Amino acid sequence: MKERILVTGGTGYIGSHTVVELQNSGYEVIIVDNLSNSRADVVDRIEQITGVRPAFEHVDCLNYADLDGVFSKYPGIKGVIHFAASKAVGESVQKPLLYYRNNLVSLINILELMSKHNVQAIIFSSSCTVYGQPDKLPVTESASIKKAESPYGNTKQINEEIICDTVKSGADIRAILLRYFNPIGAHPSALIGELPSGVPQNLVPYLTQTAIGIREKLSVFGDDYHTPDGSCIRDYIYVVDLAKAHVVAMYRILQNKQKEKVEVFNIGTGKGLSVLELIHAFETATGVKLNYQIAGRRAGDIEQVWADPAYANKELGWKAETSIEDTLRSAWNWQLKLREEGIQ
Ligand code: NAD
Ligand code: WQD
Repeated sequence: MKERILVTGGTGYIGSHTVVELQNSGYEVIIVDNLSNSRADVVDRIEQITGVRPAFEHVDCLNYADLDGVFSKYPGIKGVIHFAASKAVGESVQKPLLYYRNNLVSLINILELMSKHNVQAIIFSSSCTVYGQPDKLPVTESASIKKAESPYGNTKQINEEIICDTVKSGADIRAILLRYFNPIGAHPSALIGELPSGVPQNLVPYLTQTAIGIREKLSVFGDDYHTPDGSCIRDYIYVVDLAKAHVVAMYRILQNKQKEKVEVFNIGTGKGLSVLELIHAFETATGVKLNYQIAGRRAGDIEQVWADPAYANKELGWKAETSIEDTLRSAWNWQLKLREEGIQ
């Protein structure tokens, strides 16, 4: 029988790509999403890609009773992948309580219900944001956690602590915390991808919207950093490679292969790319010329950060494989598809 996995936030950007990879690897998936930042038709699109329709429950993780009902309706869930969260850094500064409530209470509900329903495995979506500006690059999992730059970042730090404390208390729970670097791109089918609401705050959706003419010009936030070309450096990881990391992490927990009850992995490529390098890679990959200008620094930006993914490479047997050009082409194809469908 197929093993059942509950995926919260499974119609979202990273969640939907992960559901595809889970189904392709033979897992049965139950999605829980309140559709606050995604669309219901993502379920149809996952079915189109994989030939399998995941179960979908339109439920808010803040609603303990409804979530309890999902665990009861689908007995024998083996593991949870918890993506559901609010994720816009700027909005979190404006609405901190919304972020603390959504990101903390959702996780607390999940952990309590896992214990109640004897579910032992959880994979949690953490972020490189927990490192702030690291003292040493590339950053390893043992780097110190810096004071968070935003309420959003703080929720990720607290989420990690909540999981560690719960496991330490003797709960029969095993966890893997995946610290994602900068996920970008879309599924090669162009049926699922990132759907930013309003003006995109992240680089790649802003870039593709500029390339297609929705935005006039991309602003490069700063060219006076202490980096080779002066623009900030990040580790951009293809969302499908990232999705695959969840599948191997779930296998590791379910097969009892963990070295500790809570493990932490950096999920990045190990390569830093500057904003200007990314723009040029996009132009090379797609043949589309981009209208951009150098603008002032954006408040709160980290100068440079990229992953040392060696621990994930070795222990999970996972590696980011897709080139930046293929990744950016997938982001562009997704933008073209959104236009074709009249969505954005
Ligand atoms: P997303 O907004 O596309 O997906 C999150 C999904 O969760 C959405 O479908 C939303 O409707 C749902 N959701 C939010 N609150 C919910 C609730 N209370 N109950 C049920 N569903 C709820 O975001 P994403 O980019 O796919 O991010 C997924 C996870 O990865 C988040 O936890 C995010 O913080 C984390 N993460 C994202 C990035 C990134 O750059 N995208 C980087 C690091 C970590
Ligand atoms: C990347 C680079 C910008 C837009 C954020 C969150 C982080 C994580 C990933 C969830 C930066 C520059 C951007 C633009 C630009 N999310 N830029 N012009 O800031 O690395 O991380 O998303 O956990 O927590 O903070 O990603 O895509 O916003 O920016 O020049 O219009 O692109 O300054 O150097 P960031 P980003």
